[in-house]
This record gives sequence, structure tokens and C-alpha cells, in this order.
Amino acid sequence: TRVAVIYGGKADEHSISCITAATFLRALDPERFEPVLIGITKDGAWITDGADPLDWDLAHGLPQVERVEGSRDVVLNIGQGSDGFWAKNADGTLDSLGHIDVVIPALHGPYGEDGTIQGLFEMMGVPYVGCGVLASAACMDKHYTKVLLGAAGIPVAPGITIDTRRFDASDRFAADGEAFLGLVDEAGLAYPLFVKPSRAGSSFGVTKVERVNDPEALAAAVYEASLHDWRVLIEQGIDAREIECGVIRPKPTDSARASLPGEVVLDKREDGDDQFYDFDSKYMDAQASHTEIPPKLSDELIERVRDTAVRAFNAVDGTGLSRVDTFVTAEGDVLVNEINTFPGCTSISLFPKAWEATGIPFPDMVTLLIEGALG
Ligand code: DAL
Ligand code: MG
Repeated sequence: TRVAVIYGGKADEHSISCITAATFLRALDPERFEPVLIGITKDGAWITDGADPLDWDLAHGLPQVERVEGSRDVVLNIGQGSDGFWAKNADGTLDSLGHIDVVIPALHGPYGEDGTIQGLFEMMGVPYVGCGVLASAACMDKHYTKVLLGAAGIPVAPGITIDTRRFDASDRFAADGEAFLGLVDEAGLAYPLFVKPSRAGSSFGVTKVERVNDPEALAAAVYEASLHDWRVLIEQGIDAREIECGVIRPKPTDSARASLPGEVVLDKREDGDDQFYDFDSKYMDAQASHTEIPPKLSDELIERVRDTAVRAFNAVDGTGLSRVDTFVTAEGDVLVNEINTFPGCTSISLFPKAWEATGIPFPDMVTLLIEGALG
């Protein structure tokens, strides 16, 4: 079975995708699967014969898809489906990359985890691992995730959504702080607030606003988020523990099932900084957090988290895999924060570890997902 693994991409999460792809490649059973590597550069070029991802790891820093001697552009012929993958030689001739049985789009963020590449493979008629167009698009967008979850009766954090294209960004929204504040007050949101781009991953562009009635801070936070997406969410911070769960439904005819949950525990920094889990603390500062699987919660709450994760996955029409991130409050409420339809699979990521703890080691998981996609 020939498996195209696609990684990198134009999104901010380029490097995390590279490491996720490396984790999949190391887990591919060589007796059964032959990988075909396709990297997407930060500029969006599809290339093959690039740098070897196999030893990419967080310990070695953040990798990137780069052309090396002999790298070739990948050309797709939509009409040829699984035989439509070609590499362009220096003299302009094309070599077939052969029949591709299934694609693993190991991509995070916009143009990868958002339904666009899934739509491309739907057009080509090539099977792929993971969520389809609708679930990918809906979960990439935190606003629409909340709309779908809310409709399914699943609690989410209170918040408002702003179309920043309607405001004047030339002064970094400085003139609009009062207007944003008005919207926050009208919605009755309690502080601290988290201001985030609707479509971005790994906490890019997220700012915590603690000071009440501070239009300048609010405008600055909205501006920061708007650099990633014109649609910006202002959410009420939830005083809760962050509990995450892997969910899989390898085949459309399977029922979704959830892994044991895990908790991302933020370790206190020596400087006493009240940190939140931003990109750097997630990936670059291994000391900043650790994961507890299962978390110290009652059996009843653990089951409720798993049940909520499965309901959330079904509510967005999930297939393949996802990681559902929840907030569990001291009162025992379970809210869904977000759904990652292609969860990070780095050495510190929860998805592989949580399934391992639930009895599915990652190589078995990869086989399960590929077989599921092949139907
Ligand atoms: N968006 C990152 C990769 C994650 O959720 O794991
Ligand atoms: Mg994400």
C-alpha cells in the first residue's frame, strides 16, 4: 500500500506539521506501507525529494520543508486520481510518483486542517486519513465550532465574534477599543478575556486581557489576533483545568471512541509568571508543562469528558481522528474549547500518548487509520 505523507504547509504550524509527519513515518509498518513524501514549503510549493524528515524532532528544534539538491516540484493531474501525482524534472519532463493508495495530510492549521486539501483529494477521488471537508472547515474556525457544538447542546465558553474587516486597522484598532469594550459589556463577559483568531492553531495570536475596562489593551489584543484571521473571538476565560481527549472513528461505519483523557499541567515558572499555554511554552519550553494520563479526576468525570468528546466529534461530523480539548471546572462542568482535526503528534503531544495509555500504540493507530481510510 503506497501512502503519500504530506507535511509542512503555509500555516504558522508548519514546523509542528513536519514533526507530526516524522512521527507518522516512524510508525508506518514497513512490511505493509511504502511512504511517498510530499512536503509543502512555507511559500506553498509542493515538493518531493526534499530534506529527509525521519529524524525531525522537537529536541532538534523546529524543522522546515526545504529544497535540497535534486528536489522536484510536485504536479497534480486531478483527472488521473490516484495516478495523478507527478514530479517535474529540471528539464520540464514529468515522472509519475506512482499509484497513491491513500494520503495522510499531516498538516495543521489553515490550508491543511481546514478542509481545503481535503476538498482537493475529494475532487481527485483519492482516499485520505482524517476528517472530511465539513468537519475540517468547521473545526478550524473556532466561531463555527461553537455554533455547531452549541446546536448539539454541548457547553462552550461564552464569547463574541468580531469581523475586524469592519473596523479600521490602520491605527491597530486604537480608535475602536471603546467599541470592543461595549460589545464585551453588552455580552456580559467576565474577565480575564482571551482574544483569539477564529482560524489559527497552537495558540498563535492569542492574548489574555486581565484588566477590566481597558480599551487600549483590548484593541491591542484584537489587532494581534487579526494578524492571523480577520474573524476574532473575545471569550470569557474559564477557570478550569484543561483536559484533552483523543477521539477516533477510523471508518465511517465505526462508532467514535475516545481515549483516556489527559491533562496538560502547567508547571509554575520560577519567575512566578502566571503563564498560559502559548506556542513557545507548548513546544519550545519542555519544562513548561507535563501531561497526566489519566488526570486526577473522579471516574465519573473522566467518563463524562470522554462522552462529551465523542458527542462533540459527532456533532461536527468527525471521521478518522481528532483531539477534543475540554475545560473541566471545579463545579464539574465540562465545556468544549476546541477540536483539532489533525492533532499534533510530537514527542510532547497528547494524542499518541493518550491512545498508547488506552491500549493502542501509535504504529497500530497509524495502521488502523490507513485501513479505515481505505474502507
Ligand atoms: N494544533 C496543534 C498542532 C495541536 O492541536 O496539536
Ligand atoms: Mg489546533
